[in-house]
Amino acid sequence: NNHLIIMAGGVGSRFWPMSTPEVPKQFIDVLGVGKSLLQLTVERFSGVIPADHVWVVTSKDYKELVKAQVPGIRDEQVLLEPCRRNTAPCIAYVTCKIKKKYPGANLVFSPADHLVLDTGKFREVITRGLEFTASSNAIVTLGMEPDRPETGYGYIKGEGNRNVAIRKVQAFKEKPELAVAKSYLAEGGYYWNSGIFIWNENTVISEFEQHAPDLAAKFSGLSDVYFTCREQEVIDREFFDCRNISIDYAIMEKSANTYVYPASFGWSDLGTWGSLYTLLDKDREGNAVIGNAVKLVDCKNCVVHTPGERKVVVQGLEGYIVAEHGDTLLVCKKEMEQQIKEWQ
Ligand code: GDD
Ligand code: MG
Repeated sequence: NNHLIIMAGGVGSRFWPMSTPEVPKQFIDVLGVGKSLLQLTVERFSGVIPADHVWVVTSKDYKELVKAQVPGIRDEQVLLEPCRRNTAPCIAYVTCKIKKKYPGANLVFSPADHLVLDTGKFREVITRGLEFTASSNAIVTLGMEPDRPETGYGYIKGEGNRNVAIRKVQAFKEKPELAVAKSYLAEGGYYWNSGIFIWNENTVISEFEQHAPDLAAKFSGLSDVYFTCREQEVIDREFFDCRNISIDYAIMEKSANTYVYPASFGWSDLGTWGSLYTLLDKDREGNAVIGNAVKLVDCKNCVVHTPGERKVVVQGLEGYIVAEHGDTLLVCKKEMEQQIKEWQ
């Protein structure tokens, strides 16, 4: 009774102009491998979760993109939100829906926009995590070893013995200030939250009842309409007055049942241009280029993404992002990349 829920409703606004509200990054072949990030996510879980237990929650606008990119997925497996309310309402809705058809299900929630290099290791970790939550009320988070004081992630401190694979969490802090992130790295024992959560259906519901009772009440109260022709109409109406809050703030920072499973499987959150830069091959000056006709002169540590046919010449830039998409061109210092979402 294991299920996978892919959260695919984000807009990828720090990856503009490649990622746009019309086609956000999870639907784009960001890496140039012939598959979108969503398709890579589905593929990563195959063999662990049966295809008819895969659910995708996204915005109404992306229904056709999901159906085109995940062939064979049934309509009822694609949950459509009428507006963006972040991941907590998304998780409450999908869990209450699945519960109606699969009582007692064991759930893994995954972002749609990450990269994992070692799929074999990843599958082992997910399988073990699901075994852990099959018979406990734990919320298992996957802890990634941090290598810089990144402020775009959640930080998790594990308790007790490092040799125990899955440990109780002592503290969970979502997106700390830079100074705080630096102090965590100096102190040690902290992991980045991967954004993947494993917990069973009853745990999700009791945690929401405790820490976000408004969302628990709303979505369990709608159970009569799930899997009926009225579902979309009712969701369209009810979703608007949900709070806009991520699962990290709503539950993870507050729960006493969180566990961390430190793991390494070549994880990367393709959240920003800088994260893509670290993954791509670089030339001797540290420039990473995706483009057909790009000439760099005296450039250093730049990421240039100009996949169209236009000839591009860049001279004298150091540490910049140059990205072209359609009729938009972005030229921006890499260190300012967290601000890109404010400029579109
Ligand atoms: N269905 C739906 N609805 N999905 C959403 C929504 C929404 O309103 N908002 C975001 N998502 C999806 C995104 O598409 C993404 O796949 C996933 O949920 C996580 O959302 P992000 O917006 O990318 O979160 P984040 O990167 O800022 O932070 C989270 O991930 C980090 C690791 O990548 C947190 O869990 C952090 O603690 C974590 O470190
Ligand atoms: Mg993200």
